[in-house]
Amino acid sequence: MLWTNSKSYLGRGVMRVAGVENTVSGTARGNVVQAGSIGTLHIHSSPPGNVVPQQLPPAPRLFVSRSEELTELDRWHADEERQLLVVISGPGGVGKTSLALRWLHGARDRFPDGQLYVDLGAHADTPAQPDEVLEWFLGALGVEVPPPSLAQRQALFRSLTADRAFSILLDNAASAAQVRPLLPASPCCAVVVTSRWRLSPLGVDGARFVEVDPMDVGDSVELLEQVVGEPRLAEEADAARELARLCGGLPIALGVIGARLSRRPRRTLAKEVDELRTETSRLASLDLDDSTSTTRPRSAPSSTSPMWTCRHARRGSTA
Ligand SMILES: Nc1ncnc2c1ncn2[C@@H]1O[C@H](COP(=O)(O)OP(=O)(O)OP(=O)(O)O)[C@@H](O)[C@H]1O
Ligand SMILES: [Mg+2]
Repeated sequence: MLWTNSKSYLGRGVMRVAGVENTVSGTARGNVVQAGSIGTLHIHSSPPGNVVPQQLPPAPRLFVSRSEELTELDRWHADEERQLLVVISGPGGVGKTSLALRWLHGARDRFPDGQLYVDLGAHADTPAQPDEVLEWFLGALGVEVPPPSLAQRQALFRSLTADRAFSILLDNAASAAQVRPLLPASPCCAVVVTSRWRLSPLGVDGARFVEVDPMDVGDSVELLEQVVGEPRLAEEADAARELARLCGGLPIALGVIGARLSRRPRRTLAKEVDELRTETSRLASLDLDDSTSTTRPRSAPSSTSPMWTCRHARRGSTA
């Protein structure tokens, strides 16, 4: 005989149902079923779908400019009745991920069911496969054992996100084909994709496109000011503008140079300009520009400045 009574219960203690007294040992959270005798017992974990994942990396602590892009994202989200799908593209280090994080953190309240994040690894040796990513997402949604096939994982992912409002950041996407299987069906979700590629084929999926350009000199100087301090830049305004130009408007480069100046409080900006010019001409002669790479979708911002490349920035950041 099985007593079917169940009580919502939190803690330890004694339950009395229909004259029978049972003692609950240990701590129970949720429903406790009081049973007489039981034949075979199957225990199922609670159904997934009530987990609120918060996977977004932190918002950038320092953030300047990009107000037009942020306004556009806000407007699209407000206007879009379907699911918002946005591709943010631009050269390496221009600030695509930072822009996405800035907007998604600011819009957090609009996605009460949570945020999902994955680095799709376009620049890694092996970019992430959609079935692996879906396993990751399903895990974040409480699924302990994902179904085996890609189609089953997609179907379960769509079921669990249906009519719910998640924001999803697919960072460093390699192709439209890598992104498509990861799109939920819910119109309440927003998916932001970043890529050095434009991923134009996603236009047929209704994507909106933001191309992030290098910063202009004014914004570049503002970024340097935030890192180095305004008084020091004001003392050498011309050198500051020249540094901004040499960095090609790339925030990653401006951050590296700013950090270098901060570590050396007595160094003049003019000295930094001289050194950077020497370094860049030496590196240019070594042909280190990433724009020669076959995997690079767009050239480095050579129209703004040929002086700084992504790889150069990485060298600087480890120096
Ligand atoms: N608007 C901004 N204000 C201040 N700093 C920024 C801004 N955008 C980017 N940065 C800084 O520049 C660096 C590179 O930014 P980010 O990682 O967003 O570039 P990315 O375009 O995503 O590069 P990648 O193609 O390599 O992924 C980071 O250190 C970031 O903090
Ligand atoms: Mg990025």
